[in-house]
Amino acid sequence: MDTKIWEIETGQLDTVETSEKMEEIKTAFEYGEVIGIPTETVYGLAGDARNHEAIQKIFAAKNRPGDNPLIVHIYDVAQLSEFTEPLDVKVETLMEHFWPGPISFILPLKGNMLASNAVAELDSVAVRMPSHPVGRALLREVGFPLAAPSANLSGKPSPTDYSHVIDDLNGKVYGVVASEPATYGLESTVLDCTRFPYRIARPGSITQDDLEGVLEEVVGRHESAGNQPIAPGMKYKHYAPHQPLVVIEGGLRNNTHLQIEEGQKMGVIAPETTREYVPEGAEFISLCSTEQAYREAARNLYAALRKMDKSDVDIIYIQGFPKNAETEALMNRIYKATGNEIIKGESS
Ligand code: TXA
Ligand code: MG
Repeated sequence: MDTKIWEIETGQLDTVETSEKMEEIKTAFEYGEVIGIPTETVYGLAGDARNHEAIQKIFAAKNRPGDNPLIVHIYDVAQLSEFTEPLDVKVETLMEHFWPGPISFILPLKGNMLASNAVAELDSVAVRMPSHPVGRALLREVGFPLAAPSANLSGKPSPTDYSHVIDDLNGKVYGVVASEPATYGLESTVLDCTRFPYRIARPGSITQDDLEGVLEEVVGRHESAGNQPIAPGMKYKHYAPHQPLVVIEGGLRNNTHLQIEEGQKMGVIAPETTREYVPEGAEFISLCSTEQAYREAARNLYAALRKMDKSDVDIIYIQGFPKNAETEALMNRIYKATGNEIIKGESS
């Protein structure tokens, strides 16, 4: 099967060509097809959340374990009344503040409108209203909720550009909407609101501080009960290139003696300002302009990992960043990708 590509950029939303493409895409979703769509976090692989077969196609194309539930994407909060219990006023407040945007809320599921495999047979559902103008326009056009995990092969870094979706899923999915790259570059914050205080099941660009800036003490302190993952997806190895990946804690600046075996080639992913510390002969990918450019690092991380994955390097070193609220999601993804191989910096 040849995968169709529809080019729709934000600046073209009001054209006749785009409305024709939108109609075609809507029809494909109605027929149970699955399509890669842009969001501001990462590209998603979307299908009708009410259609069991469409959801099966998503799991099959990604080779995703069936016990890992999908996120359901909506255009309008009013859509939720069809498949979730009435919203708590605190949840409503957070939605008003952060939606459309990079946060998903896990809510108690109601009724059987959603396909049971979309939520991995759970009695809760994660929902999100994305802000990417093209993703949003698609959700409005389609009118029903779209279940969409990240549009990568399971285990690979999430796609932040449509070309990544094609690299992973060409021939395996009906189509891809080619639009602008994701502006955040990391998957949404997932907030479990099925019990109070709420819990962050997956860190993302919206932090605990951001949430508590709106509603005080709404998020429970991290529990010390081992590292039991809350989001089923967090227990799998993720985001990983095929080569060994090692984090340099404290950064390149403090680790100028990277080890490598004879005849092997090294890759280094680090901020532009540390280029001078990269060993000779290493393949360097600039992650961001400075060591404090965390947002830029988040936006570029998956593309950098994908590029190294395709290269001929035998081992990859990646810059670690200081731990703070702003870097939590970034470091969470970097550590997941390494399977926890770390080099300690001399001064940190
Ligand atoms: O930014 C994003 O969230 C992207 C875009 C496409 O919206 N989507 C995404 O989906 O990252 P996915 O499937 O790659 O990750 C969804 C995460 C998984 O860790 C999954 O286990 C968790 O959300 N999740 C979904 N529904 C859940 C539920 N009912 N209870 C607990 N965790 C849930
Ligand atoms: Mg994913």
